[in-house]
Amino acid sequence: MNIILLGPPGAGKGTQARKLVDDRDMIQLSTGDMLREARTSGTEMGKIVADVMDSGKLVTDDIVIGLIREKLEGEKKGGFIFDGFPRTLAQADALEQLLGDCGESLDAVIELRVEEEALVSRITGRSTCANCGEVYHDETKPIPADGKCSVCGGTEFKRRADDNEESLKTRLMEYYKQTSPLIGYYYAKGKLHGVDGLAEMDEVETSIKGILDA
Ligand code: AP5
Ligand code: ZN
Repeated sequence: MNIILLGPPGAGKGTQARKLVDDRDMIQLSTGDMLREARTSGTEMGKIVADVMDSGKLVTDDIVIGLIREKLEGEKKGGFIFDGFPRTLAQADALEQLLGDCGESLDAVIELRVEEEALVSRITGRSTCANCGEVYHDETKPIPADGKCSVCGGTEFKRRADDNEESLKTRLMEYYKQTSPLIGYYYAKGKLHGVDGLAEMDEVETSIKGILDA
């Protein structure tokens, strides 16, 4: 099964993708994570995209499509969760083509619906385990009191450079301008399922699983 998690910054795409990985042996393909990895490993591409990402703008289609193409050539396990990809209509067309080329297709697009006011506190309160990537939130999912990650026991946590109100404004603008047309695109293809992303994390998870099991 191959699915897309669609939604604005802070909607909970990464949080829900990790739950599906644990539960269904699926592979999470987060273009945001891939780009951040390229930055830390100091590759040429990492240097090119760093400023763009920090500003909140979108990286070019060619770069992200190239990243996804590489991953689709590898292991498939229980299927792919596309997290933060596609983000433009050109990326959506490329994904269809790439999946077709490897004999796969898209099963569902889950749109996580969250109002804008909630996104600011979600983003500014977020931190991530530097070792395993588990996502925390100062209020809704605090780092355990002993200072250790509940998944891996790691003690280092990071905040993202683009998780500030200024970059978030640009990220939201990019979402409305370039990514939200995908909602209509997938609706027309009969693949779109809306989920209330404002609900508790476990409730969101139950809703998504209900859709995938239907
Ligand atoms: P990317 O890394 O994809 O960031 P994003 O889309 O802005 O999404 P986020 O990771 O911020 O949010 P999320 O929806 O995963 O929320 P999370 O689960 O963490 O992209 C970063 C940048 O890379 C882009 O700006 C762009 O420059 C570039 N890029 C990436 N992909 C690209 C592409 N395809 N094309 C072009 N450029 C690309 O949750 C957020 C917080 O809320 C957490 O603290 C979490 O604990 C909390 N939370 C989650 N769910 C709930 C809940 N139900 N209730 C309460 N709190 C919750
Ligand atoms: Zn961890």
